[in-house]
Amino acid sequence: MDILSLAKSVGSRVEAPLTDLRTVTKVLGNPHMPLLLALSKGFVEPVYRAAFLASAASSGVLHALAVRPCDLESLAERLRIADEDRPRLKEWLDMGIRLGDLTKREGCYKLRSLPAKALAQPGNDAIAAALEEVLRFHVPALLNAPRMLREGRRFSLDDQDGLVIARSTRVVQPLVEEAIARTLDRDAPVRLLEVGCGSGAYVRYAAELNPRLSALAVDLQQDVADSAAANMAEWGLTDRVETRQADLRTLDAQPQFDLVTLHNNIYYFPEAERVDALRRAHDLLAPGGRLLLTTSCKGGNIGLEALNLWFTYADFGGPLPQADELVDQLRQAGFDDVEATRIVPGEQFHAFTGTSKRVAYA
Ligand SMILES: C[S@@+](CC[C@H](N)C(=O)[O-])C[C@H]1O[C@@H](n2cnc3c(N)ncnc32)[C@H](O)[C@@H]1O
Repeated sequence: MDILSLAKSVGSRVEAPLTDLRTVTKVLGNPHMPLLLALSKGFVEPVYRAAFLASAASSGVLHALAVRPCDLESLAERLRIADEDRPRLKEWLDMGIRLGDLTKREGCYKLRSLPAKALAQPGNDAIAAALEEVLRFHVPALLNAPRMLREGRRFSLDDQDGLVIARSTRVVQPLVEEAIARTLDRDAPVRLLEVGCGSGAYVRYAAELNPRLSALAVDLQQDVADSAAANMAEWGLTDRVETRQADLRTLDAQPQFDLVTLHNNIYYFPEAERVDALRRAHDLLAPGGRLLLTTSCKGGNIGLEALNLWFTYADFGGPLPQADELVDQLRQAGFDDVEATRIVPGEQFHAFTGTSKRVAYA
């Protein structure tokens, strides 16, 4: 029995008849005991629970149990777990029971807690992915920061999971969609370039708002671009949207776009390279074309501060931008009429717009 469990079991027995008064008095008299009990309840269990729920969501267990209760064998089959590992799967599922998120009746596991039931809903996929992002990326940044500095280590793009991030960034979908709705010309034909398209959801939204819009959607990460291309096919958009892997900095395209969009990725560029990256976006615009860039800025909620921490420790990106600095960088990159707007008053999520300086000559 570990010390936390011992502390908890003794803590829960104080009202029961005491069989070994001396031992219990000694354990309870331990000056560390209140701290251990407080840590166990306040910190340790919530972390275990968050990890269990994130894993149960990403593995498909929550979704399977939302459809119907399942026994160990059918869950093992669904997760393609080898026979000899089924007892280990059982230990993990039983941990879910112990944490209060699952229950078991007549040999079948069922969802029990409200968070487990909510995260099982397909409409909450972005939140499930965000929980996974917190545990897999934010927690290691907090945990390892001093050691990384001592050892001169940085996070690389490979330390991240582009497919999880493409899902988790959709927690800000209503804000990005509002920015698109405010910017997009809905009547004239529009040629859109979306840089760092992730799932492709915002190209789809723009295409819905303007039936005459066509687009090139690119993403730096091959697996993300492949998944966006599959989404475009599923959404019936392949005749209007070309989707491929490409890096904005080396993208081979003519200055033909009426609108270039960058959503939630300016911090993938180091601060010193942002003006060049934005100039590249500017140079891909047709004369009079517009840029729409949406991003969370510094000074937001604690989750955004953790995201900022991760990118500060990355070897390829940089901190979240300060809104006024990004406005300056957009001007340096050649944009006119630069504006920064908070989509929701008081929130640090901003939309930045600018217009290409170049004019069309007849
Ligand atoms: C946080 S995700 C956002 C995805 C999507 N825009 C959204 O808001 O849901 C950032 C994406 O930008 C892509 N990206 C970063 N730097 C890029 C670059 N230089 N060129 C193209 N894509 C880039 C990343 O690969 C990643 O998929």
